[in-house]
Order: sequence, then structure tokens, then C-alpha cells
Amino acid sequence: MKDEFKSLLKEKRVFKPSKEFSKNAHIKSIQEYKKIYNYSIKNSEKFWAEKAEQLHWFKKWNKILTKNGCFFKWFEGGKINVCYNCLDKNIEEGRGNKIAIIWEAEDGQAKKYTYSKLLDEVSKFSNVLKSHNLKKGDRVCLYMPMIPELAIAMLACARTGLIHSIVFGGFSSESLKDRINDCKAKLVVTSDGSFRNGKVIPSKENVDAALNDCPSVKKVIVVKRCNNKISMKNKRDHWWHDEMSQVRYHEFKAVEMCSEDTLFILYTSGTTGKPKGVLHTQAGYLLYTYQTFKWVFDTKDEDIYWCTADIGWITGHSYIIYGALANGATSLMYEGAPTYPNPGRFWQVVEKHNVTIFYTAPTAIRALMVYGDKWPKSHNLKSLRLLGTVGEPINPEAWMWYYNVVGNKHCPIVDTWWQTETGGILITPLPGAIPLKPGSATHSFPGIVADVLKDDGTKAKTDEGGYLVIKKPWPGMLRTIWNNPKRYRETYFGKFKNIYLAGDSARIDKDGYFWIMGRLDDVIKVAGHRLGTAEVESHIVSHKAVAEAAVVPIQDEIKGQAIYAFVTLKKGILATENLKQEITGHVANKMGSIAKPSKIQFTDDMPKTRSGKIMRRVLKSIAEGTKEYGNISTLSDPNVVEKLERGRSS
Ligand code: WTA
Repeated sequence: MKDEFKSLLKEKRVFKPSKEFSKNAHIKSIQEYKKIYNYSIKNSEKFWAEKAEQLHWFKKWNKILTKNGCFFKWFEGGKINVCYNCLDKNIEEGRGNKIAIIWEAEDGQAKKYTYSKLLDEVSKFSNVLKSHNLKKGDRVCLYMPMIPELAIAMLACARTGLIHSIVFGGFSSESLKDRINDCKAKLVVTSDGSFRNGKVIPSKENVDAALNDCPSVKKVIVVKRCNNKISMKNKRDHWWHDEMSQVRYHEFKAVEMCSEDTLFILYTSGTTGKPKGVLHTQAGYLLYTYQTFKWVFDTKDEDIYWCTADIGWITGHSYIIYGALANGATSLMYEGAPTYPNPGRFWQVVEKHNVTIFYTAPTAIRALMVYGDKWPKSHNLKSLRLLGTVGEPINPEAWMWYYNVVGNKHCPIVDTWWQTETGGILITPLPGAIPLKPGSATHSFPGIVADVLKDDGTKAKTDEGGYLVIKKPWPGMLRTIWNNPKRYRETYFGKFKNIYLAGDSARIDKDGYFWIMGRLDDVIKVAGHRLGTAEVESHIVSHKAVAEAAVVPIQDEIKGQAIYAFVTLKKGILATENLKQEITGHVANKMGSIAKPSKIQFTDDMPKTRSGKIMRRVLKSIAEGTKEYGNISTLSDPNVVEKLERGRSS
């Protein structure tokens, strides 16, 4: 493995798509890609309007793109329904009996929903939602495990014109509470519990705790999944199965939505402790996820597609549900952990359902690689024809393992770069056309103008690192931050005028390939999960023994990044190993176990500037042990650095 890795770097090997693959692909050659790309940039609005013709519209748009500073609207005047496009349209086109969702439970049971059956369930649940007196534009919070009811609930929101805000089931009650209160959700859908590694996680209990402090929530609908004991509050809480069996009507006409009505809010981490409610609208988001799904995953009618993300993150929204179903695909949804009951679980599911396209995160690949080749090798993975990654940079070693062992040297790998804010994939290989370089997300998707700029706004030179930006608006982009247009403008358009700032650093090589190098702001990617340092810090500080905290990322072989926390205790409190554990447990309780620091260092002082700002780059180099602090003469007490270095937690 190691030797192969070295030779790969030496040769700077490029993996060309095989003739076989290209022959059947939507986009068959680099020349064809370039032609489409050039057209899409010269005639950007026309390009998107032509693509939008593929969708079902109740009424066509009047205007393709409206610009107002950094605020953009797409397809104004159009009337559309996202759920209609995902379900009814496929049934009208003859896919009623095709499987829309294959659900694989953690215990190995499976359930399949045809497009017709899914429409029945979604329509019934739309009637349930309506019976709770919700009106168009009201927010519904979904805090659920990976069960079919989550897909049904989100599609029902889309059908009825309600805005969903999905909160990842791994977040704790405190995080749930903040997200509910920010968008003032009126109804919450949850489950009694959720299965993870064979254990039951008490979802409903978390909801109960959050709702002690969420005055906007009037109703809770609870799916029975684990049969764990829960309490049901009279009048507020209702069982999903009761509600579904009581609905009078089984049909629900999809509501005609304006193109720019809100489809959903999804909270993501930023530079302050308060998560941002990233807002996506109807037509543009649908079109963008539709087109990227089709071309990036190069899908055919017979494909069985599996994206392993959780629907609680953007990847699940865009590429398990909306983009996949709008294309009439068969999308697999897996409830459990990748290593339960053993590290062969993913490969066993691939074999069982004959998965042809497999999309996962580098962290999962690295975690499974540790267990060796024997797990993938003990399963028949012949059905696979395309692999994908998302969420963080993939190291060439993991790329090679994925390519050789999982893909058996014949599956292209699409390394897709994008963000919650971008709605869909922006930089990516198109597998029949673009030669691959392991570790590079390759080129811009048609219609997208990505670039790398220096601090002064000029273009970075070849191989020079800089700010990754997008220079033209695209239909899938976020429209604003819920209730905070100022934060939207400042975060994404504050640095370079009329240019979208991604927050990542990147470089472009001599062949025009993009290499994403990681975040430039206070966002940490732990096992592909996006966390804000400020949010984690606020939870550490809420522990009674803690006076101040600062967290920085450190490299982690499997998770990509992990959290290293510097903690100053209140006067008179003894720094003990037990207390470290207590603080770690406290963060898990407050935010969720994904946010647990992997290392804690107690310190009496932080490296602060004279104006009192913590100098994070100093902490980062101490945590990483690089000793490259840069200039520390502006610290109010430069001796702190030496003290911190001595106390370093290795
Ligand atoms: C990172 C996930 C390198 C990046 C869809 C981005 C990546 C952040 C890649 C967004 C990739 C995503 N290569 N880095 N292929 N894909 N990222 O909002 O730092 O959870 O800004 O969206 O993930 O994370 P988010």
C-alpha cells in the first residue's frame, strides 16, 4: 500500500475514465465537458433556463435571474412544487412501480417504497400536518433518526408549503433548543428513540428537555421506532401511527409554490457561537440538485444509489432525497453505524442490494481502511460502478484504497466539493469526462465559476494557496441566513465585492485542477461533521468549573480533524484528570458526542493580544506541536507561550 502510494506521488498519476465508462456516460469526454462548460458560462442564464425545462412547472417563470447586490432570485414568477417533482412527476412518467427508497435498518431488516407508495405516505402525512393548523411558511422541526418517516415528513413539508428545519439526531437537547427557538418552529417530528451501534438513543427525551424552553412549539409527532419507554404529554404529543391511521383523506394536492418561497432552513456552524440558519428556496435548489445528481453520479434508470450521509446534514437533503428522487432514482437509506455489527457492514449492504453508486465521506473510508482489506474482500462488490466522496479533503492513500480495494480498479471516484450554503456540488469530476487526480476535486461544474484569490482580490498564481471563491451566482446557492441578511452579506460577500467567499483555502495546479486545503475560518470538520469552535467553546464554558476556553483543530488520522481544547479553570478549582473527563461528558451532553474534545489542556493563561483577543494561531501550533507561532511580540505576556508548551497534552 505504502509503496503504491509513493509511486503514485512520483508519477503524479492521472486516472482517465475507461472507454467503457465514457461510452455510456451523460458527458463522454473532456472536449464535451469543455464545450458544455464554455456555453454554460457565456450564456449562463440561458443554460440554466434550458435545464429548468426538465422540471415540472405549474407556471413558467418570467425572469431567470434577479440581482440585488449580493441577493439573488431565480425563476421569479414561476410556480412549482418540489415534492411534485420528486414523486408525482415520476409516476406520470411511468415510474410508479419503481423503488424510490430502499431502507436498510440497523438490525438488517429492509423495507422498500415504490414511488407510488411513497406518494401515498407523503400525502397522508401532508393531511396530518394540515390537521394541526399549520399554514404555508410555518416551520416544522424534524429531529429524527434515519428512518423512512424522515423522508416522508420532509417531502410532506415540501408538498404542503411548510418549511422544514432538520436537526441532526446526534445533536443534544441544548443544540436542538437553540435551533428550534431561532426559527420558531411550531411542530416537531421525532421518534421515541433511535438505534446506534445496537443501543437505543432517547430522541424523545431530548425533545422533552428542549421543549421546556421552546414556547413556539405546540405539537409533537412521535414515530415509534425502538419501543423504549417515553412520556407523552397530553394534547401536545401524538403518535405518528395514530395520526396516520386517523387521516380522512389519502390524497393531497401539491401546493403551488413561488420559485423563491423557502423550502428549508438548515443550521450550520459559523464563526460565532450561534449557528446560522442557511435558507434554501424551491426552484433553484431543486434544479441544481437535479442537474448535479444526474451528471456527477452519471445516473441511469437501473442504478441503485447509496449515499451514506445522515439526512440531518446537507448531503442527505440534496443527495439522498431531493436530487435523487427528482431524477427518479432508487436511493438507499441506511439507519445505522458503518461498523455495526462489524466493519463489513457497508460492504454487506452493497452486496445485499446490488448498489451501483456509492457516495460516502473520507472519514468513513479511513475508519474502514484500518480494519483491513478482508472486510470489503469478503463481499461481492461487483455491482459497484461509481464511487464518490464528500465533506473533507481525501488523502491520496485513502483514495487509492477506495479505488483499488472497494472499486476493484474500475470505478471512477468523484471527489465532490461543496457546502451547506451551496445547496449542491460545485467542484467535481464528471466521471465519464474528467481525468482524476487523487485528492483533487478537479473542475467546476457547468455554470460554476470557481477561482482562487489572494487577500488583495487578485488571482492567485498556479499552485499558490488562496481564498476559494465563486464568481457567478448559481441556482442552488443559499438565499440568505434566516432572520439575518446582514450576516449573510458580511460572511459570504463581505471580503470581495459580489463574489461568494467559501471560507476554504485552495490552490489550482498547472492543469487547472482544484485542490481544496481546508477551512480558513473557525470551522472544524470532525469526521466530516461541521462544527464551530465558538459553539463548542460556549458549551465548555457553561461547565461550572470553567472560566475560559479556546478550541482549535488538530489533525487526526481517521477523523481528519479532532478538537483540542485549552481550558482555564475558575480560581481555586483543582485541575484533575477526572475533571477533564467531566468536561468532555458535559460537552457531549450539551451539544452531542460529535463535539467532544479529544484532548484538553488546562492552562492558567491564554495567549492574548493587548486588546484581549486570544491568538488562536499560537494555540494551534502548540496543539499541533509545530512551534511555528509566528510573531508573538504583540502578546500582552509572551511568556505564556512557554508555559503552554510545557503543559501540552500529547
Ligand atoms: C469541506 C458538506 C475538501 C469544505 C457538503 C467545505 C471538502 C465544508 C469537500 C462544507 C471536498 C466539503 N474536499 N473539502 N470534496 N467537500 N468539504 O457545510 O471545508 O457540512 O467548506 O457541507 O466541507 O461542509 P458542509
